[in-house]
Amino acid sequence: MGIAVSSWQLAKAVATQGELGVISGTAIDSVMARRLQDGDLSGETRRALAHFPDQEAVSQILKRFYVEGGKPVSRPYDDVPKLIVKPTLFAFQMLIVASFVEVWLAKEDHDGLVGMNILEKIQLAIPAQLYGAMLAGVDYILIGAGIPAQIPRLLNELSAGKSLTMKIDVEDTSDKFIINFDPKCIANVSYPIKRPDFLAIVSSHALVSYLNKDAETKPDGFVIEYHVAGGHNAPPRAKNSTDENGEAIYSDADIPNIEKVLASGSPFWLAGGFGTPEKLLDAQALGAQGIQVGSLFALCDESGFTQELRTQILQSLESDDVRITTDASASPTGFPFKVIEVQNSLSDDSLFNARVRKCDLGYLRTPFKREGGGIGYRCPGEPIATFEFKNGAHDEAIDSKCLCNALMADIGLGQLRPDGRRELPLITIGSDLEGSRQMLTKYPDGWSASQALNYLKMA
Ligand SMILES: Cc1cc2nc3c(=O)[nH]c(=O)nc-3n(C[C@H](O)[C@H](O)[C@H](O)COP(=O)(O)O)c2cc1C
Repeated sequence: MGIAVSSWQLAKAVATQGELGVISGTAIDSVMARRLQDGDLSGETRRALAHFPDQEAVSQILKRFYVEGGKPVSRPYDDVPKLIVKPTLFAFQMLIVASFVEVWLAKEDHDGLVGMNILEKIQLAIPAQLYGAMLAGVDYILIGAGIPAQIPRLLNELSAGKSLTMKIDVEDTSDKFIINFDPKCIANVSYPIKRPDFLAIVSSHALVSYLNKDAETKPDGFVIEYHVAGGHNAPPRAKNSTDENGEAIYSDADIPNIEKVLASGSPFWLAGGFGTPEKLLDAQALGAQGIQVGSLFALCDESGFTQELRTQILQSLESDDVRITTDASASPTGFPFKVIEVQNSLSDDSLFNARVRKCDLGYLRTPFKREGGGIGYRCPGEPIATFEFKNGAHDEAIDSKCLCNALMADIGLGQLRPDGRRELPLITIGSDLEGSRQMLTKYPDGWSASQALNYLKMA
């Protein structure tokens, strides 16, 4: 979830209780680089790094980002290389090593199951991230926000240590593009390495049938996500489904047909408003293996959200003074994105408008074919004139928020700007908070992952 909201600490807490704990792999290279610049005071990142097979790669990373005792608060973070079609060896190694570290820490000292979630939309990072997680023995890979048809093949090839290619989407052209990845960029690995199971996160039974059609695209199972889920949501099926406030409007056509999913024979889990004991039973009665729960865990003690933000959200839940929207244009991905109104965050239009646009992390940049040839990269969250200069459409950019910087701020790793301001957060949470409300009544000072699991299993 988010950027490191489902941190290794949260995934580990869930996995040690016998359930699948999932870490977020999104932007994990930036997370590791910033933790190292903050001095890695607990020593956890360096403990995991010491177990990485290629210590030469580790020493390059430490040399570039580790600051003993932590950098001065007044100094901005140094950034990792941006994702591009042909990255440097160092950029690959950052993604591989950071994914390894997060999974390794989540799996340390227990036999429970750990998964990694990444977004199909961030294609350029996928092979390196899968590989890094696999080097740490990841048990499951979960991918949504797109159609993850190539993942089963990539996992097979990586497991065998084969060099591979992956098709990528490039806008403004019908030409086909691929990226290359060679696992040999990491030394001292013996093959085969464990191939994790792959769960595709989808919102319609049609995608289940599509992915199941071919053995090469068939996942090991599905997470079927309803549109009340936190994070990104599938766009509504109906045309013109955005209201005058910019919210995505869903209808019955957007409810997945679970009978058809069941008939596919693939194992599946239900997500989006399933975080109560009763809903768990409902899901099982529908034939699901279980549920994937986000919001209840995003609000628990071990989540990566800063304590300050968590307290604010819990207080607004308690006073019933909470507004959650499905913002159709906040995310540069173009997918609707759930946003909870929180003070001093980018949900406040005046703060959003006051932010100087900057795209320096760039995970959500899309490759496009330049008029003069070659590939460029653009993100609707970047300065509007720059986006337009790259043939991006004004309307696409106007309300687009820089999720990369905001989500880093959500976990206390926000960038400092030259004018002394720090990047502000933007919080996503699901719109069905029944479970969280019940937990708040039971635990007014907040709850742990273990208490959340006990609650879910009590019926
Ligand atoms: C804070 C937060 C961040 C999320 N980020 C992601 C993400 O990066 N990728 C993803 O596939 N799902 C993400 N989700 C969705 C969850 O994985 C999960 O499917 C969803 O939250 C389930 O619905 P619920 O919030 O009603 O429990 C996120 C959810 C939350 C609450």
